[in-house]
Amino acid sequence: MVIKNYIDLSNSLLEKYSVSIPRYTSYPTAPEWTEDFTQGDFLSANQSANEKSTPISLYFHLPFCESQCYFCGCNIVISKKHSIVKDYLVHLKKEIITLSELIDKKREVKQIHLGGGTPTYFQKEELRELFNSIKEKFNISKDCEIGVEVDPRVTTPDHLKTLSALGFNRLSMGIQDFNPEVQHAINRIQSYEETNKLIILSRELGFQSINIDLIYGLPLQTVSTFTRTINLITRLNPDRIALFHYAHLPQLIKHQAKYIPSKSLPTSNEKIEIFKKSVELLTTNNYIFIGLDHFAKPDDELALARNNKTLHRNFQGYTTKANCDLYGFGITAISNIQNTFSQNIKKLNPYYEKLDACEMSIYRGFVLKTDDLLRKDIIMKILCHGKVTKSEIETVYQIDFDKYFSFELERLKDLQNDALVNISNTVIEVTNLGQYFLRNIACVFDYYLQRKNAEQKLYSKTI
Ligand SMILES: C[S@@+](CC[C@H](N)C(=O)[O-])C[C@H]1O[C@@H](n2cnc3c(N)ncnc32)[C@H](O)[C@@H]1O
Ligand code: SF4
Repeated sequence: MVIKNYIDLSNSLLEKYSVSIPRYTSYPTAPEWTEDFTQGDFLSANQSANEKSTPISLYFHLPFCESQCYFCGCNIVISKKHSIVKDYLVHLKKEIITLSELIDKKREVKQIHLGGGTPTYFQKEELRELFNSIKEKFNISKDCEIGVEVDPRVTTPDHLKTLSALGFNRLSMGIQDFNPEVQHAINRIQSYEETNKLIILSRELGFQSINIDLIYGLPLQTVSTFTRTINLITRLNPDRIALFHYAHLPQLIKHQAKYIPSKSLPTSNEKIEIFKKSVELLTTNNYIFIGLDHFAKPDDELALARNNKTLHRNFQGYTTKANCDLYGFGITAISNIQNTFSQNIKKLNPYYEKLDACEMSIYRGFVLKTDDLLRKDIIMKILCHGKVTKSEIETVYQIDFDKYFSFELERLKDLQNDALVNISNTVIEVTNLGQYFLRNIACVFDYYLQRKNAEQKLYSKTI
């Protein structure tokens, strides 16, 4: 059930459901993970993956940026001294060797992603060196999806040529907003022209899919300024668009508190209007709403997967690659191997020290129990397919669905009254309107969120 046409979203619904909820790139979400997770937990999950010969997804966190965008909530290191990359590269290569030795060589790598920070902070020679050591140690499949996040402000034509020659086939570009006043307020000056030039070159070089990141809810944004931004974006004609809601967490993020005064932000009502107008413009410009914050062209793999019910969700958001075990490299990187999540140390020096001592750099994680796996399955089905078939869940988990989830089904009635879901004896199905409230529907099945209602402020609002 993919939304093609514009839907008239009512303000009262958007207001009612604009609450703080996780984005469910994992379940249970990261705040539930603990330092009780051991190296033994990681190794036994890895062994089980080796025995099943599961395919692999590799994520490399390249955390450096030249300057601080004031809105940014990513795990980054700001430095003008590019020599900082040298040490990082040495340790990433150590981690590649350590982890690759644990992984059965028969297992194929189906997906590689360089995220950040800004991967193109690395010089082209450094990116080549990193990629060659990945190629040397892993069995990369011919149809491997190889993506990279690029900041157009520091990405040169030479970067793109090098990445393309190495086999990269996907790009994700940060833009956020083209309005000069908004750009000034977020400390990110980036012209339409320089971005357009890079997109044209990327297409000439044969990159198959280009994604653009936008944020609504930024300081000084209005419906009319953001309408102009969206119109420029549709001229750039990306294959995919991520339209994030600005996560303003000044209590946790110092530079947001210092540089983004609350009074410069659009009000809740203005944000709702900006969101509604953006959805209207994108869907009438032939973008399909995939779910949460993602839009794609109708012939893009993501939209096709949405139709065929082969869509999945991982730490990079929506993906078409199923059943891959994710191995993360670099500070803060996350791994998701079989029924475990684990995360690397967040700071550079302790991460270096661990690798120098030939130890693993994990600092926390989680082993999913049966109830977690069951709820994860349901949450992902809601986010990716908009439908949960009760009998499928009953067969896999040997439960009586209605009995097991009597509390959740009771809570869903309110959402059914608002026409966001249809509940029958056999299925729970998200309506076309409900597609815009997926997090609100999914979170009903989040055991930890129900228990930890009081701590919801840790997450960003849905709208
Ligand atoms: C690692 S950055 C993208 C790559 C590159 N560093 C750049 O900025 O072009 C990932 C994306 O996260 C989003 N993002 C960062 N901080 C955010 C926040 N506080 N709220 C919403 N989205 C945010 C931005 O859209 C950004 O493009
Ligand atoms: S948005 Fe991108 S470039 Fe800006 S600080 Fe965050 S990661 Fe760095």
